Order: sequence, then C-alpha cells, then structure tokens
Amino acid sequence: MVLGVGGGIAAYKVCELLRRLTESGHRVRVVPTAEALRFVGEPTWAALSGQPVATGVWDGVHEVPHVRIGQEADLVFVAPATANIMARAAAGLADDLLTNTLLTARCPVVFAPAMHTEMWEHPATQANVATLRSRGAVVLDPAVGRLTGADTGRGRLPEPSELFEAARLVLRRGAAAPDLAGRRVVVSAGGTREAVDPVRFLGNHSSGKQGYALARTAAARGADVTLVAANVSLPDPAGVRVVRAGSAVELAEAMEAERVGADVIVMSAAVADFRPVASAASKIKKSPGATPAPIELAENPDILAGLVASRDAEGLAQTVVGFAAETDDVIANGRAKLARKGCDLLVVNQVGGGRAFGTEDNQAVILGSDGSAVDVPTGPKEDLADRVWDLVLPRLG
Ligand code: CTP
Repeated sequence: MVLGVGGGIAAYKVCELLRRLTESGHRVRVVPTAEALRFVGEPTWAALSGQPVATGVWDGVHEVPHVRIGQEADLVFVAPATANIMARAAAGLADDLLTNTLLTARCPVVFAPAMHTEMWEHPATQANVATLRSRGAVVLDPAVGRLTGADTGRGRLPEPSELFEAARLVLRRGAAAPDLAGRRVVVSAGGTREAVDPVRFLGNHSSGKQGYALARTAAARGADVTLVAANVSLPDPAGVRVVRAGSAVELAEAMEAERVGADVIVMSAAVADFRPVASAASKIKKSPGATPAPIELAENPDILAGLVASRDAEGLAQTVVGFAAETDDVIANGRAKLARKGCDLLVVNQVGGGRAFGTEDNQAVILGSDGSAVDVPTGPKEDLADRVWDLVLPRLG
C-alpha cells in the first residue's frame, strides 16, 4: 500500500500507523509531501517502512515512480490529509509524487483529514471533500478533540490504532467500491444502565463490540456514520461521529434526534426493558438482619418499535435493523420478534454459555421481513457486520 503523508503536525501520529501496518505484514511505500518532511524527516519514514522515500517526481526517474507507485498499490491511504492536499487532489493537480500517485491509482483511496476546525468547515474544504467522495474516495470525518495549541474541536486525526483498523477494513474488501457512499447510517451499541441509586445500576453484559464493528465497516464502505454508544469503553472508530447515552430513556432521546435524515438505523444496543421507578437520591444502605426493600420497576420505551412506527407514520424510505439475543428457540423467537417490532432485518444471536458477549467472534441468523434467513457462521464481528450491510444495500431506496 501507499501511505501518503500531508504536511500537518499530525504526521507524527502516522509513524505509529506505519509501524502497525508493517508489523502486520503490509508492504508500505511512504510518499510524503515536501511539507510533511518539515514535521517528520525522510529517515524516519524510510527506516519504519524499509523502503526508499521520495517527495518529487525527479528521483529514480528510470523506474517511472510517478506512474508505477500508484498503479501497483492495493490501497492509497493519505494521513494526515491536509486541506491543501485534498484541494490539490480534488483539482487533479500533479505537482509532486503524491498527487501523481493519486491520479494513477485505480485502487481504493482513503483520506484521513486533520486540520483546524475552521479549515475543515470552510466551504472550499467541504466542496473538495464532496468532490473526492463523489469520485469514489473514502474521506473519514476527522475526530473531535484537542487540536494543536489550546483549542478543541473537530479536526483531530483519529488515533493510529483506529486508522489501522480503517485501512485494514478497506483492504479486506479488495477493489470493491465504497457502496455505502452518500448514505447516512445510525448504529446504537452497548448496553443501557438504569440507575438504582447514585452508585448502582441494572445493566447487561453487552460490550458494544458488534455495534462498533457495524460502525467501522460502514465507514470503510463510505457511509456517513453516527454511533450512539451506551456505556462502551472502546476507542472511537475513525471517521465515525460518536454520541453517548447512559439509560434507555437517554438512548431513546438520542435515537429520536439521530433518526432524522438516516437511510439506515441499526439497533444493536442491548436495551434494558425495565428501569427502577425511582432512583434513590443517596446510596441505599443495608440494615443488618432486615429484608432488602424490593425495587419497583417501570417498563422502558421500545426504541426499535418506536423508530419503525415513526418511519411508517412519516412514510420514510428508511431501512431499520434490529438485533435479538435469544437463549432458546432462536429462530421461532426471532421470527416472532421480527413481526412484533416491524423492522426489515433482525440479526438473531444465540447467547448464553459464553457466546457473543464480549467475545471477538459472533455467529447469527439474519431474518428478513420477506421471510428470508441468512446463516452467518462463527467469525469476526466485522464479518457479521459486512453481511448486515450486504443485506441492507438492496433494501435501500
Ligand atoms: N430494543 C429496544 N428497546 C427496548 C428493548 C429492545 O429498542 N426497550 C431493541 C434492541 O436494541 C434490539 C431489539 O429491540 O434491536 C430486540 O431486543 P430484545 O431485548 O431481544 O427484545 P425485547 O423486545 O426486549 O424482547 P424480550 O422479551 O426477548 O426481552
């Protein structure tokens, strides 16, 4: 693969990305811009990649590198993608080795932008991003957080571990085009917590890994992804907007706000069906010998059924996917649940006995409202995620 490096301070984080890529067996050719070398020098890129490094088209001309590097690549990944490099790429300029490479590459191209918020939000940058996306590139939205200097906002380069995941997920799709480009996807993940008192809650074992795999794979397929995370301690996936929720009621509110304009909604969060009627204001104490007070419960809203009802009432072309964790009669319970919830697809997991919760692998049957059933054998959670997106695609308007 080609790792294009733009002239931004975040270039230092890309050294770590390069290290991860080479350690996992990828052959990486680093093509920095001249400005990138002001932040991280040529010896660093050459030593970490084990390959020669050039910025211009006049080095090693007999090997025609300005054409060959792009032609031979399986992936071109540009990080940090500055406003300048994206403007040059959008305009089709070919004034250094990286822009030449971008013009000759026919493989997937990913830009991971990093810049100050004002530069990211500027209409010129947004127009360039839209142009690059319309031509089939994946442009990962920058993360929100601390920027260089004292300011905070959108424009931060995602963490190297998550950039690595993004590169890996695009690479595993081979030459496939980003088929969710232009689609807005909302995924809920994790498990809700219902407060009993200031220190205790009713919750569940959901780790959020399946929901995060759905968000990561959708971003790698070019979607505009919002992840509504309930009590998940995983790192934010690159290119994904993360919204946090704690309880079922908070999750319902977040989903109600995010459903607007969504093409696809996936409810992979494990929602508590009940919450304590009242959360004690102070920590509940035990009295020796006394019977503990019962916890009175109230039913939580069914978020998935509510999303389907809103969609139908408003006549929206929206595909809604539910999840179901079942311990017994998996298919029969799944079919009944699909009908009850009214969603288009229901991903049914068998849980219990150490299956699914917190593990890296998952196995499921994906039931369709059209009567279809697709078996997904045990494999990484991102395999199941990609199967979900494969089945969502033909259902999109
Ligand atoms: N769900 C939801 N709101 C709830 C409960 C569940 O949106 N209050 C969603 C989950 O996110 C999941 C689907 O509904 O996508 C099925 O969740 P599950 O807990 O299996 O369904 P329940 O309706 O709670 O059925 P059960 O009686 O089996 O618990």
